[in-house]
Amino acid sequence: MRIVVPKETVPGERRVALVPESCKKLIQTGYTVGVESGAGVASDFDDESYRAAGAEIASDAAALIGGADLVLKVNAPTIGTRDEVGWMRPGAIYLGSLMPLRHLDAVRALAARGVTAFATDAIPRTTRAQAMDTLSSQANIAGYKGVLLAAADLNRYFPMLMTAAGMVKPAQVFVIGAGVAGLQAIATAKRLGAHVSATDVRPEVKEQIESVGAKYVGIELAASAAAGGGYAKELSAEDRARQAQLLADQCAVSDVVITTALIGGVFAPRLISAAIVDRMKRGAMIVDLAADGGGNCELSQPGERSVTAGGVVILAPLNVPASMPYHASLLFSRNLTTFVQTFTKDQAFTLDLEDDIQQGAVITHNGQVLHARTATALEKGTE
Ligand code: NAI
Repeated sequence: MRIVVPKETVPGERRVALVPESCKKLIQTGYTVGVESGAGVASDFDDESYRAAGAEIASDAAALIGGADLVLKVNAPTIGTRDEVGWMRPGAIYLGSLMPLRHLDAVRALAARGVTAFATDAIPRTTRAQAMDTLSSQANIAGYKGVLLAAADLNRYFPMLMTAAGMVKPAQVFVIGAGVAGLQAIATAKRLGAHVSATDVRPEVKEQIESVGAKYVGIELAASAAAGGGYAKELSAEDRARQAQLLADQCAVSDVVITTALIGGVFAPRLISAAIVDRMKRGAMIVDLAADGGGNCELSQPGERSVTAGGVVILAPLNVPASMPYHASLLFSRNLTTFVQTFTKDQAFTLDLEDDIQQGAVITHNGQVLHARTATALEKGTE
């Protein structure tokens, strides 16, 4: 079975889907691996390190992808001038963080081409699937890095300090959304010495917030917001209004607000209105880690740092894991390698829809879109 690793071409992307450590592992179990020249350079894995791991380096992307049984990518395969989908042969497999609901055109093309596409971001949240879950490995990085971005930009210390010039109080950090990114943000802010509080809408999260050392703040919801599988659903209008009051009060007393809330793991609910930002302290910061999904703050400008008239700094970084590409790639690569090794036998892959992981992750197969939410979105023509 031939596995290939194209270069990522999304602007700002510095990750690679497979690192030399994983190449070696796969090659030792009998796969052949081809890597597009320069694919790992931005994450500090040069061609030589892949060669040393036993991979072949190719400079012609079309020929490389055309000869693949399995294409591993970080992002969705491209269409258009660099037509990665068109280069794949019918029956080949794509495995990567497809984010199908954000890339309906690519999904359409994958189905039309007869590619079997698996989205690692659609893998179910089960214990067995954990080692393959790229959303988790990458969100962990986002939570960590988001706090460091705040600490580097903030007009004050994170920790309480006793200095010769007197004592300074610790920063007050408020984390909204305590999934993988949020819990890591809490832990990182705590390690830096801040006072941390956090909120979420799923009931089981209170205990998790407290276990990493933050104070839980929340409202009693009239209707459960747990959508199953660790995902949240949108709040009712009544709950939204009550939550807005809580968020306004918490933001007003915070030095740093880190937002990570997503609905269904994809779209960002607008939780921090301009009016809430207006009540925040001059010099306070918001780091909107949901910017890729549209942002949790009304005033976020995705990819930008902005400062409001009231002196609140808003960071809305995009693709935060790509800013720490070495470890982001290493962990992503291990996730994909576990998937490959779990589901191929004697170098052959057979789709098994009885398997809950494959059933959750498969998006297209044999010309069909099998993923229900994606199929519905395609029917509605939304993107
Ligand atoms: P996510 O990225 O979909 O959402 C982030 C957080 O935002 C979630 O905790 C969600 O409840 C919260 N949120 C949504 N709307 C909100 C609102 N209006 N206000 C405040 N918070 C809001 O979630 P993520 O990080 O991907 O995972 C969530 C959970 O899934 C984890 O905490 C864990 O329990 C579970 N999980 C399980 C895994 C496994 O067992 N393999 C792997 C990864 C996650």
